Amino acid sequence: MNFQITADTEMHAFGVRIARLLTGGEVIELRGDVGAGKTTFTKGLAAGLGIDETVQSPSFTISRVYDAPSGLHLAHYDFYRLHDAGIMADELNETIQGSSTVTVIEWADIVDGVLPVDRVTITIAATSETDRRVVLSTGGEKSNKILEGLA
Ligand SMILES: Nc1ncnc2c1ncn2[C@@H]1O[C@H](COP(=O)(O)OP(=O)(O)OP(=O)(O)O)[C@@H](O)[C@H]1O
Ligand SMILES: [Mg+2]
Repeated sequence: MNFQITADTEMHAFGVRIARLLTGGEVIELRGDVGAGKTTFTKGLAAGLGIDETVQSPSFTISRVYDAPSGLHLAHYDFYRLHDAGIMADELNETIQGSSTVTVIEWADIVDGVLPVDRVTITIAATSETDRRVVLSTGGEKSNKILEGLA
């Protein structure tokens, strides 16, 4: 499924929209260059889950977890600075198993082996300073539900 997004506020709103379809246990892989809008999307996702806390790029901590009032948890990973996931791969693997956790991962290449096939992959490409082409693909029953919800 393809989307054309023309402002950062619209990317945020797209995150809010996806958040409403989440029930826990979903894995969302965010692909795209530096500045594509992966964290902007994640901020919208957090807002849509009712999380008041400001989502910051977890670049130095690799991961951050936010608690939503619904009881869901948002685990946000960013592996940009890591060349070897090491023990973080095990940590991520454990987080993904959490049935009330939504896991969002930026720069997931080094943990590719840990990612479940049943995940939502969102690829963001900048086509101008403010325009983004977003491609959403899914790989199984749980992730397909999101696609259906968007249709
Ligand atoms: N349509 C748009 N969607 C998303 N971000 C946009 C858009 N237009 C402009 N921007 C700007 O682009 C930047 C995106 O930054 P963001 O941190 O979300 O990117 P990122 O993909 O997470 O990058 P990184 O790989 O460095 O973590 C922000 O400054 C945002 O305001
Ligand atoms: Mg980011």
